[in-house]
Amino acid sequence: MTRIILPVVVASLSLATWAAAHSGVKNPEVLKRMEAMKATQDNTKVLGAMAKGERAFDAATARAAASEIARLAAETPALFKAEETDATSEALPAIWDRFDDFTEKSRALEKAARAMSAGLETKADLREGLGHIGAACKACHESYRK
Ligand code: HEC
Repeated sequence: MTRIILPVVVASLSLATWAAAHSGVKNPEVLKRMEAMKATQDNTKVLGAMAKGERAFDAATARAAASEIARLAAETPALFKAEETDATSEALPAIWDRFDDFTEKSRALEKAARAMSAGLETKADLREGLGHIGAACKACHESYRK
C-alpha cells in the first residue's frame, strides 16, 4: 500500500510546489521563459529516470526527449532577448550584459541535445549524453541564474 501511495504523494507535492512558485508571476513574458525551462526540466527528468533505471530504457523515447530539449534550447535566446523582469524571476541582469555568451550557452545545450537525439542507441549513450546536457544546464545557471 505505502509503496504505491508514496510516489503519487511525492509527485503531487512537487507539482503543488511548482504551481505555487508560478502563481505569483505577473509578467507573462517571464512566465513563458519559466515554462520553457520547466518543460526542459521535465524532458531531462525522463532521461535521468532512464539513466538511473527508475524507468525502462527506451531509445526512441530518450531520443524524443533529447530532441525536445534541443528545440527548447533553440528558443531560449528569443525567450530571454527582451530584458523582462518579475519579482519571482531568478534571472540575473548579467544575461543582458553578455547576451552573446548567454546565446552561446543556449547553443551548447542545443548541440549536446541534438547529438544525443541523433546518435542514441544504448544506455551508455544515454548516460554520456545526459552528462553533456547536465553540464550545459549548469554552465548557464552558474552564470545567469540566482
Ligand atoms: C542559456 C542559459 C540556460 C540554459 C542552457 C539552461 N537554463 Fe534553466 N534557467 C536559465 C535562467 C536564466 C533561468 C531563470 C529564469 C527566470 O526565473 O526568469 C532558468 C530557470 C530554470 C528553471 C526554473 C524555472 C521556473 O519554474 O521558474 C528550471 C527548472 C531550469 N532552468 C532547468 C534547466 C535545465 C534542466 C536545463 C538543461 C537541460 C537548463 N535549465 C538549461 C537559464 C538556462
